Amino acid sequence: MTSGEAHLEVLPSADWAAAVAARLVARLAAHRNLRICLPTGETPAPLYTAIVAAEHRGDVSFAEATLVMLDEWLGLPPGDPARGDEMLRRELIGRLRVPPARFVAIDVDGPDPAAAAARHDREAAGLDLAILGLGINGHVGFNEPGSGPQDTTRVVEVAATTGEIASTRYGASVTPHAGITIGLARLLEAREAWLLVTGERKAEMLYRALHRPESRDCPASYLRRHARLTVFADEAAAEMLPDAGARRSPGPSIPTHPVI
Ligand code: GLP
Repeated sequence: MTSGEAHLEVLPSADWAAAVAARLVARLAAHRNLRICLPTGETPAPLYTAIVAAEHRGDVSFAEATLVMLDEWLGLPPGDPARGDEMLRRELIGRLRVPPARFVAIDVDGPDPAAAAARHDREAAGLDLAILGLGINGHVGFNEPGSGPQDTTRVVEVAATTGEIASTRYGASVTPHAGITIGLARLLEAREAWLLVTGERKAEMLYRALHRPESRDCPASYLRRHARLTVFADEAAAEMLPDAGARRSPGPSIPTHPVI
């Protein structure tokens, strides 16, 4: 994997979702059959609301697109409100007028999670666009600290703090301790990657991800190896980045490799 440049877009918080949605609308207009991997969580929720509104206006269609889940909990029953497939149906897919050509969930209900992970790894090959969130501990998907750039799609233990979010924020029926995630190796192979980061609480980790030496302590730092990475940050998340104010979108690309 050759190293690239991350393009950083710093957006006012009030405009962040609409601006990222407009970018996705443009991508889909150019390539209706995109294969996109999608995260769950707080960060993308307003983006999904903006995308649904755009689809209802007729500005975009997912009718030929394939949507692939980034990660999913193990140990939560079907229909659990904290499940990633439930969240994506609730916030995006179930609200579209025309459903996507394919929605590729992760089969966490079968008897063999490792086999399900291997199947999802094949689905994750050849992604056009990997849309990603940043965990407060530097994770990407469920690539928790300790994960590296060669990791494939696999069964993982999740950090205790990550599992607790499923219960406290999303009302999971049990606190999950494991999941299946697309690995960094597949995410780095995607033709394009977007890292979505909002809120002051992510500011320090975004700084580490972009400006500290790459490290398994911060798996998101390996995303800098991607040849076409765009970071969509709101002003609060970008506040620790050097010259963030000067880089308000549209701004220049920033070199992120070698690390500074
Ligand atoms: C979660 C999910 C990720 C998500 C990340 C950030 O645990 N597994 O897919 O991107 O953590 O979540 P949030 O946007 O809620 O901060």
